[in-house]
Amino acid sequence: MKNAEPKAIFLKDYQAPSFEIESTHFTFDLYEEYTLVTSILKMKQTQNQPAPLELNGQDLELMWVKVNDQILSEDQYALQDESLTIAALPDDFTLSIQTKIKPQENTALEGLYKSSDMFCTQCEAEGFRRITYFLDRPDVMSVYTVHITADKSAYPVLLSNGNLVATQDESDGRHSATWHDPHKKPCYLFALVAGDLQHIEDTFTTMSGVDVTLRIYVEPQNIDKCDYAMGALKRSMKWDEEVYGREYDLNIFNIVAVDAFNMGAMENKSLNIFNSSCVLANPKTATDATFQRIEAIVAHEYFHNWSGNRVTCRDWFQLSLKEGFTVFRDSEFSADMGSRTVKRIEDVSLLRTAQFAEDAGPMAHPILPASFIEISNFYTLTIYEKGAEVVRMIHNILGESLFRKGSDLYFERHDGQAVTTEHFVKAMEDASGKDLSQFRHWYHQAGTPELWVSDSYNESAQTYALTIKQTCRDTSETDIKKPYHIPFAIGLLDSAGKDLTLSCNSSAFNDATQVINVTQHEETFEFEGVKTAPVPSMLRGFSAPVKLNYDYQPEQLMHLMAHDSDGFNQWDAGQTLATSVILSLSQDVLAGTDLKMDENLLAVYAKWVAELSDDLAKQAQMLSLPSLAYLIEQQPQAQVHALYTARTFVKQAISDKLHNEFNEIYVACQVSGPYEPTHDAMAKRTLKNLCLQYMIQAQSKDYSAIAQTQFEMADNMTDQYTGLSALVNSNHQEKAQKALASFYEQWKEDVLVTNMWLSLQAASDYIDGVAGANALLSHPAFDIKNPNKVRAVIGAFAGQNLRHYHAQDGLGYNWLADRIIELDALNPQIASRLLGPLTKWKRIAQPNSSKMKQALEKIASRGNLSKDVYEVVSKSLAD
Ligand code: TRP
Ligand code: ZN
Repeated sequence: MKNAEPKAIFLKDYQAPSFEIESTHFTFDLYEEYTLVTSILKMKQTQNQPAPLELNGQDLELMWVKVNDQILSEDQYALQDESLTIAALPDDFTLSIQTKIKPQENTALEGLYKSSDMFCTQCEAEGFRRITYFLDRPDVMSVYTVHITADKSAYPVLLSNGNLVATQDESDGRHSATWHDPHKKPCYLFALVAGDLQHIEDTFTTMSGVDVTLRIYVEPQNIDKCDYAMGALKRSMKWDEEVYGREYDLNIFNIVAVDAFNMGAMENKSLNIFNSSCVLANPKTATDATFQRIEAIVAHEYFHNWSGNRVTCRDWFQLSLKEGFTVFRDSEFSADMGSRTVKRIEDVSLLRTAQFAEDAGPMAHPILPASFIEISNFYTLTIYEKGAEVVRMIHNILGESLFRKGSDLYFERHDGQAVTTEHFVKAMEDASGKDLSQFRHWYHQAGTPELWVSDSYNESAQTYALTIKQTCRDTSETDIKKPYHIPFAIGLLDSAGKDLTLSCNSSAFNDATQVINVTQHEETFEFEGVKTAPVPSMLRGFSAPVKLNYDYQPEQLMHLMAHDSDGFNQWDAGQTLATSVILSLSQDVLAGTDLKMDENLLAVYAKWVAELSDDLAKQAQMLSLPSLAYLIEQQPQAQVHALYTARTFVKQAISDKLHNEFNEIYVACQVSGPYEPTHDAMAKRTLKNLCLQYMIQAQSKDYSAIAQTQFEMADNMTDQYTGLSALVNSNHQEKAQKALASFYEQWKEDVLVTNMWLSLQAASDYIDGVAGANALLSHPAFDIKNPNKVRAVIGAFAGQNLRHYHAQDGLGYNWLADRIIELDALNPQIASRLLGPLTKWKRIAQPNSSKMKQALEKIASRGNLSKDVYEVVSKSLAD
């Protein structure tokens, strides 16, 4: 361990800052060997009692420090590993500091670093302290002026936040630029970019008539991959005006694409920095899925301008204040751009596989955590996705127009402030008049609540009663779990599949759907005037992030699949049916008995593949089996291989029975004309390529030539890649290897496409286990310093290739442990994220479980672990 035993910090210890920084002036002198950072800070004490000033700093070389132009001698300040403390300061003063840093050696990719040949920054959450000594906390907000000097030919473009106020040629072939951002901001939103970049430009006129210049900066080879993101940005700006009344607040908005980036993108004020994989696309190089990801992430970062930047977080415990709300906003935006039902299905799938797993594991935490060791470990599915679900529940409880009143009040009341989740809930409460006191438990309790539902129909009284019990597993942050306030949307279907008009004393969504407020450990709700025994459609639209337990009969599920007016529940009924079939087959696998395909499930698939429906994107979802990751979550100690075998058997059986029908849909869904990333065209391709996946598994007919032709003839990456992927995940391995080789030859100059090529192989059923993964690691296309490549090989093998990662000999776990140890010395954030697949050790059956634990122990036994890895490993082993 670096610092013996890293300590946790606690929300309850929060104290307001003792100093204000009224304005900042920074000079960055960028050189190849080092960078000099000079700051001039106008500061003020905020408390009555003068306090010592403790500035954060990490891996910095201090050149000098001045107070009111007087250089301090070494006895006038205290320099520690991660701080610089100055005592005895006047009430008002100017603090000036110079530090020397080495961005070119920064492999952690926090603070100022180099990606390819350009300089760029990533300051959230606590990266600014790697640039200079500063009050690196989000409740210290200041106005920034940034002066950058660099060699003019190597770095012709110099960018920072706000407006460009001056440029100048300097001596020795250098030049400079000065940027000024009029909006106060915390330092985590600071950004700087210097490089040899090209850009595309467009304009957006805001609702009050202000013209905003929009630019996307990229390395020259990527200039033909910017248009889609530009369109997405304009759609986002428009949507935020229409749906939230939020207008952009500067005359310029820049996006920069960088190859080396720890996360997806960053919302720095007016200078968003994007992982190139989340912004660059054209039809030849990007799949439909990539186009959709880009639209969502561009929107997400743009929406942060209000939910995050104008109103920011008081401290990092409040992270979900900006992330949960912004994910909710971007997911509603995506729903409005495409199929609302399918967007909901995608979001809930992610939540139920990955977030529920997190909530069931050793890193479980409330969306408002009470403590952490390393904040970077808390950029989690819980903070983001569960946080978004909590905002969605408020939306469900208040309804559309009161929710809008609440968000208006929140933005107006707290504009320019650094606040807490409590301020958000209070604004929603004040604007709506609804009592959210019990609802607040969602912020403080971890774990996924479970609902246990039973029902009874009384024919003579014509009543239908629903008894709902709620439970939640113990988690470390609370002694006793208080009952949650759960908005439970329900509809009742009659035997013809029609929705009954409901009367139950609670607020209605519409006539057919009621939202019941579940608030007790156990309670019973009664519906009156129910003429026949209904089929309940529960938790419509997934109205709360809970696990639902109800003993559905296959006929009921098939009834819901055929008739439910709620598209999400229609899909979910199919998932429930398929899940129960696969889980029960997995028991047969373990018992060694013959596997027999379930006729109900076959019939359902036969129906959904019989003809084209009116929503092709939804149809593709209806025809998709639950993922192996989802199935694993359904068992307390998962038998991964039995589940894999059972799922593969079901897929095979569906394919053998229905390949002709799949082929017909495949043909019917060919998209003619040039590629367009429109939602209709994407839906067609998604369904078509899903059909291909089934066809290629057929044993009675060889469809590999169709996949190969699609791969060879495609004029767009979606079709080329899915053709390739169908071959790679089939037993036509000779064709697959040839196609992989020709794909690499064609695309080896394109970093992003090459990464797709790596991850396709790393996640393939047919990879030669750890040996195959090692071959990818030693391929020239791999680079351990680039997080996208780490994710493409190590992340894909451990996170997606569950069959090989969970090999019974434990070699997959040991291999991952070695990669994490290697990476921790370079990039702790990425190393720590890769631990995810090991933390689940208690949820996997023996003998694997012990072998996963051994891999964690191997990491724990190393000296010198980063805080990031230390926190996750120690919590996982203590669980
Ligand atoms: N705020 C970013 C977002 O939009 C998250 C982020 C980007 C981040 N880069 C990071 C978080 C690096 C931690 C470290 O969600
Ligand atoms: Zn975000």
